Amino acid sequence: MAYRIVTLPGDGIGPEIMAPTLEVLRAVGEFEFEEHLFGGASIDAHGVALTDEVLGACKAADAVLLAAVGGPKWDTTDPKKPRPEQGLLGLRKGLGLYANLRPVKPIAALYDSSPLRRERIERTDLLVVRELTGGIYFGEKTRTETSATDVCSYTEEEIERIARVAFRAARSKVTSVDKANVLETSRLWREVVMRVHSAEFPHVQLEHVLVDNAAMMLVSSPRHFDVIVTENMFGDILSDEAAMLTGSIGMLPSASLGDSGPGLFEPVHGSAPDIAGQGIANPLAMFLSAALMLRHGLGLESEAAAVESAVSRALEDGLRTPDLGGGEDTRTATRAVLDHLNRS
Ligand code: IPM
Ligand code: MG
Repeated sequence: MAYRIVTLPGDGIGPEIMAPTLEVLRAVGEFEFEEHLFGGASIDAHGVALTDEVLGACKAADAVLLAAVGGPKWDTTDPKKPRPEQGLLGLRKGLGLYANLRPVKPIAALYDSSPLRRERIERTDLLVVRELTGGIYFGEKTRTETSATDVCSYTEEEIERIARVAFRAARSKVTSVDKANVLETSRLWREVVMRVHSAEFPHVQLEHVLVDNAAMMLVSSPRHFDVIVTENMFGDILSDEAAMLTGSIGMLPSASLGDSGPGLFEPVHGSAPDIAGQGIANPLAMFLSAALMLRHGLGLESEAAAVESAVSRALEDGLRTPDLGGGEDTRTATRAVLDHLNRS
């Protein structure tokens, strides 16, 4: 039976990169796609970024593929107005997707596209494991005319489960990133990670690095890292930084997983309103997110590897979209990847 995939193109360049992704998926397997409005598009139609109906459809699917949400049209500082990002946060929470995996492995053909020197980034192969349903993103928020608060809170259980994901994913080492010299949540984080380590994964090397230092090490010595595990907001910031090791944020995919139920697969980049509608968006992070869906969401390892290798080979042939300093558009990029897929 064909896998049932809910697709959420969202806003900005979202629809432009989702459409070619379905072509790529059709080249490797049989899928039933069910598209829904999400983010700003859903606010325009229904007044909210994620309707109960769409959340229900996502829960019933085998996997959810999401492009991007947001744009100047819905940008507001008014806490009473709906925001596209609420859809994303609601979906992550609603599906229980507490583990966000962001693999950062620069493709050799792009070593010279990174703002960092080739010698720095060569052979980098790290995974950011970001806690996705806790911390300051989901704590209580207050606002008056002249003051505001966002509460950061974590429970032992929330830290234990994300720590396990990180230790299981590690080949050699886990770097737990926190701010234990200042934050109480970080001190709990560190304690719990150490406990899970000694009780369940003593064979994996564990180190603790403060988040400011980790930010520096990511650009000075990225090869130092195997798995980085960190809380929600630190993971958000560090993964954008790590994306530049691959040459462009247009290259970084992500997978969000829970203990059961469908996973959510989306590129790390946003909806890029500045280039939306021009057909020049780099679709590769979206293709690579589809590959993560094949691997982690559907258990289709060889299909996932086929998509990844088609992307690598297209880049080796010289494919460069504008974000990578080239002149090729979304259509040409898609053609190049499909050609390799159909050849293999
Ligand atoms: C990400 C994004 C989101 C986040 C935004 C759009 C809410 O930056 O997935 O990294 O902060 O989690
Ligand atoms: Mg982010």
